[in-house]
Amino acid sequence: MKQDKKLHIKTWGCQMNVYDSGRMADVVAPLGYAPSDEAEGADMVILNTCHIREKATDKLFSELGRLRVMQEEKAAKGERMIVAVAGCVAQAEGAEIQRRAPYVDMIFGPQTYHQLPEMIARVTRETGGVLNTEFPAEPKFDALPRQRASGVSAFLSVQEGCDKFCTYCVVPYTRGVEYSRSPEAIIAEAENLVAGGAREITLLGQNVNAFHGEGKDGALWKLGRLFYRLAEIPNLKRLRYMTSHPGDMDDELIAAHRDLPMLMPFLHLPVQSGSDAILEAMNRKHKADDYRRLIEKLRAARPDIAVSSDFIVGFPGETNADFAATIQLVRDIGFAQAFSFKYSRRPGTPAAAMIPQIAEDVKDARLQELQGLLRDQQTAFNQSLVGKTIQVLFDDDGRHEGQIFGRSPFMQSAYIDAPAAARPRIVGQELDVTITEARPNSLKGELVIQKDVA
Ligand code: 5AD
Ligand code: SF4
Repeated sequence: MKQDKKLHIKTWGCQMNVYDSGRMADVVAPLGYAPSDEAEGADMVILNTCHIREKATDKLFSELGRLRVMQEEKAAKGERMIVAVAGCVAQAEGAEIQRRAPYVDMIFGPQTYHQLPEMIARVTRETGGVLNTEFPAEPKFDALPRQRASGVSAFLSVQEGCDKFCTYCVVPYTRGVEYSRSPEAIIAEAENLVAGGAREITLLGQNVNAFHGEGKDGALWKLGRLFYRLAEIPNLKRLRYMTSHPGDMDDELIAAHRDLPMLMPFLHLPVQSGSDAILEAMNRKHKADDYRRLIEKLRAARPDIAVSSDFIVGFPGETNADFAATIQLVRDIGFAQAFSFKYSRRPGTPAAAMIPQIAEDVKDARLQELQGLLRDQQTAFNQSLVGKTIQVLFDDDGRHEGQIFGRSPFMQSAYIDAPAAARPRIVGQELDVTITEARPNSLKGELVIQKDVA
């Protein structure tokens, strides 16, 4: 197939969006679109948006402004640049985008990108844009071509959407209700990825541990069961998953952490707050002590497990005492890594109407304090590995001259000094590395056995 058209996709936000962008590129590849790093001169530009981060809509419109100029330049030469907006902002604000930026050719939500070829056909036939933000009843996954292996470390989407309705969050409105793929389809795709060279697979989902599907045996498979089965795939070395909700960490999944060494000792488990009053207002459906107990259970099952989390500060009604409870929880747990955000009002969500909203300077001060503590914990965790020998899976992209990068079991980026010529013997391997240095965001080390590879 001749790929003579340039496709540029700009992706904001979570791994799910990164994954979706990859699938969009796959879907339009048969139409002759080849990925390009630049918007300039592209035949189609897709902005894959995320609603969760602040100022998502502002960023979108400023990007659209830039694209409009390029679109007009192309039009002056008699050529066409299709401009599309995808993702959660498209889903939530499609009509507004159409009104403010009528030059946008296609607007489609996360549930409809398998219809891209049809939408492109419509756009090229007609004038006027296409707005496609339906939640279709039929599962979109089945209509997609099989994903190509993206390398040593691959993503596999097992679940989409969320029914949890945390009061600050747009995901249940934009991504729709929880939907899980069938275990059979997931196993087949995992085998396909491994055949294509993947050695690590990360199962993805907005609420990945809510995954539940009917197996060929007629039984209900939850995530734990799926891991036991995936662990049997020859040549697959590592399994991971994200993002999880504390309420869905069941005993079988915890047992999988105990029984399967290849289920990596790293868990991203957002807690959001350490205050029971705030957790309740957030509709998180668990208390701070439930989270503490859960981490204890996980550590009993897998003593070396590193825990990561998300936090929101300045949620409506958050007092100094509430915030102090969050700080206390962080001290009690000890996180290897975490993300923290200032609460940001999302129109249409229940928390947007709650009072009192917290002043920006208070949010700033709390965020700074929390991030300082989390940074110290991350640095201490990275430091604790110096002098230890750990297994690094090298999935280098070759961007750093003289260094080859990989990941530790705990998700840290880890690298060794090595000439580019050594890459083919190292990339794709899981090798023992003695850590010699810890940086805030990476580890440096030396290969233990060099005779086969160096
Ligand atoms: N304000 C601030 N942070 C938010 N998140 C989700 N919605 C909001 C919001 N309205 C954060 C949560 C979630 C992460 C992906 O983004 O911490 O876990
Ligand atoms: Fe949003 Fe996560 Fe809550 Fe679902 S569980 S509503 S995705 S924050």
